[in-house]
Amino acid sequence: MTALQTPSIPLAANIVAKAPIGRWMDALRMSDGQAIEELRQAYCEHLPTQGEMIFTGACDFTCQHCIYPPSFARFNKALPADRWDGMLEDIRQMLDIRTFVYGGRSLTPEGLDVLTRLRGRCPDVQIGLIDNGISMEPVRERLHDVRADWIDISLDGQERDHDLQRGREGSYRAGIEGARWLVDSGVAPKVNILTCLTTINRASVIPMIRELNAEGFRNFFITPVTIVEGVRPAPQLRVEGESLVEFIRELREALPSMDEAWVELTFYSTEYAKNVAMLAPELWRQFSLDRDGFVWAEPAEGGEAVGGSQLFVRYYPISLTGVRELIVNTNGDVIMPKSVGLGQVDRKAVAGNLLQQDVRQIVAELPRSNAFAFYWKEFQHEQDLLRRYV
Ligand SMILES: C[S@@+](CC[C@H](N)C(=O)[O-])C[C@H]1O[C@@H](n2cnc3c(N)ncnc32)[C@H](O)[C@@H]1O
Ligand code: SF4
Repeated sequence: MTALQTPSIPLAANIVAKAPIGRWMDALRMSDGQAIEELRQAYCEHLPTQGEMIFTGACDFTCQHCIYPPSFARFNKALPADRWDGMLEDIRQMLDIRTFVYGGRSLTPEGLDVLTRLRGRCPDVQIGLIDNGISMEPVRERLHDVRADWIDISLDGQERDHDLQRGREGSYRAGIEGARWLVDSGVAPKVNILTCLTTINRASVIPMIRELNAEGFRNFFITPVTIVEGVRPAPQLRVEGESLVEFIRELREALPSMDEAWVELTFYSTEYAKNVAMLAPELWRQFSLDRDGFVWAEPAEGGEAVGGSQLFVRYYPISLTGVRELIVNTNGDVIMPKSVGLGQVDRKAVAGNLLQQDVRQIVAELPRSNAFAFYWKEFQHEQDLLRRYV
């Protein structure tokens, strides 16, 4: 039997495992020794369900909010495209991952070819792409062949704020043209708008969503900026406290005037969750549990959406990222979230390399590996900030 024919891990087969978020909540109240075992248990019982592939570290933008430093490509060389085919096949077959996301940083012909071949081999996998609507221009005709299930286009507020955040005049107009082309050409059934919320665009994100919704866009995903403490991007970009809570109120108020909009606001940093827990306790108390996070929905389950629009607020603790995503760097390394911020990824943030090790082994060994210290450290921070609210 070749590696490609090896069956997937039977890990979860006979176990009715507790959801990762349930273990995370229990661990919040445990002593350190017990808590780390509980977190490890979540990882032993739950394999990642999505692969995020960083096909290239290159991007000719220098957006203020970007988690990648401009020098990222210098330290992280791209592999030849054919090396990705085997890695993707291993991930799909051995971990039974069915969702693949083009993770970084700009769309390349090679990366798209890899995904086109994946699509050819497995018509039923889910493929998602992300772009700023501009880097796709030279490769956009290839998008037809990928048959992506969705394409996210990043637009960070109205024109002035977007261009300022993205460090390039004209990038809003060019980005929106890219999004319109995607819709008109029908290359993907869903064209979503992705927004990174910061202090730059705090006031213009909702007006932008209204405008784009009036134009026919339906799906909006907003993520308040993630900061790698002491590294990048600048902490002044973080929208916090009352301003964040007020943003949620404004979103709720704007919802009825939208047309069949699907709006998600997703926090990864604990600071944001703490803001909501402290300053909007009535909202926080209504959060329910998802597989690996918290979710609040308007209208609530069973309720009727005004104008057919829906709003979701989600919080995914970073310490549980690895039960959801397998992040693969340009050289085949399986890396921890946020580790790209340094440019040169710290070896301690590498769980293994897909060209050298079996992906099942990497995932199985993760809870006892050095890289797991990343999740443990994040968990301790989450415990410090949230124990009294959960
Ligand atoms: C890294 S970019 C790669 C794709 C493409 N270059 C783009 O900008 O859409 C993917 C998404 O991550 C977002 N992003 C980058 N840095 C972020 C951060 N520090 N916090 C939250 N989102 C971030 C971008 O705004 C974009 O929507
Ligand atoms: S956000 Fe996207 S376009 Fe901007 S610098 Fe980062 S990778 Fe490049």
